[in-house]
Order: sequence, then structure tokens, then C-alpha cells
Amino acid sequence: MAILDIITAPDPRLKVKSTPVDRVDDEVRGLMDDLLETMYAEDNGVGLAAPQVGVAKRVLVIDLSRGEEVPDPLCMANPEVISFSEDLVSTEEGCLSVPEHYAEVVRPASVRLHYLDRDNEIREMDAEDFPAICIQHEIDHLDGVLFIDHLTAIKRSMILRKLSKTRKHTTAKTAATAPVL
Ligand code: NI
Repeated sequence: MAILDIITAPDPRLKVKSTPVDRVDDEVRGLMDDLLETMYAEDNGVGLAAPQVGVAKRVLVIDLSRGEEVPDPLCMANPEVISFSEDLVSTEEGCLSVPEHYAEVVRPASVRLHYLDRDNEIREMDAEDFPAICIQHEIDHLDGVLFIDHLTAIKRSMILRKLSKTRKHTTAKTAATAPVL
């Protein structure tokens, strides 16, 4: 396991559509472990997708346990949303690749998806509320989409301008106060 460097916007690697894995083998499991360790090293990290460490593969990890709770990692390869609810919900989102910026994003409140788990088994799952938001945020990363891409062009360019100014002096590690995806 290794802690990898998290890349931050406006790095062009975050805008790439990632490719599916053929199967979940030891190499993909190693990537999942590295993603988990990298996410756990961030105070409030609850989700991380492979493109955020510069790997253009459709792999992501999520762990919504907080603080002293027992870790509850969820590892997915090739996740695909099959259906989503018509109800929408607005949630304040943050992202390890967009450090120190938070904004309300509107998304479907629940989703059904399938994915390959750590053992290369096909799983189907229903998610609602915050887990559904996390999953959609992480799947967006696999398609080269950041949460700021859901904002108005003005808000997005304001955030990107600030990030371009500060990225030379800071790293992705920040004392975040809210969960970051
Ligand atoms: Ni993110």
C-alpha cells in the first residue's frame, strides 16, 4: 500500500474519460488499496477516484464511516448507474482535487448501479442520500467531470482562478471541515 499524490484542478488529467478495467486482478486490487490509504490520509476524505491520483482507470473507493467508527470501505471497478430517481437533492460538495472550495450541487437523490467488487464479482446496489451523492461525484471523476462543472460558468471560473493562484504554494492536504470527495 502506498500514499499517492492527489492531483488538483486545473490539472488536465482530471478532465480525461477513464477506461474500464478488464477484470479486478491483483493490480487493480493494489490500486484500490492505494486509493484507500491515500483517502484515509486526508482528514475528511470519504471518496477517491483513480483519476485523482493520475490513473485513468474506472476504479473508485468510498468510506463513509467517520472518526472512531469501524472503517467500512467500498471498492468499485467499472461502476455504472442503471437508473436514478426523479427527485433531486442539493448537497454541499467538496473534493480532494478542488481543495478548500465547497458548493451546492443538485443531483438525483437516489441511484441504482452495478459494479465489480474487489473479488471481480458483479454487484448491484441501491444508494440514497449522501452515499448516492458520493457515488455520483466519484463516477463523475471517471468521466472527467468535477463538481465545479455542475456550477455556473462564473462560479467555476472564480474557483479555478483561485486554485491556479494558490496551487504553487499549497498541496491538496488541507484542514477540511466537511467531508470531501
Ligand atoms: Ni472529488
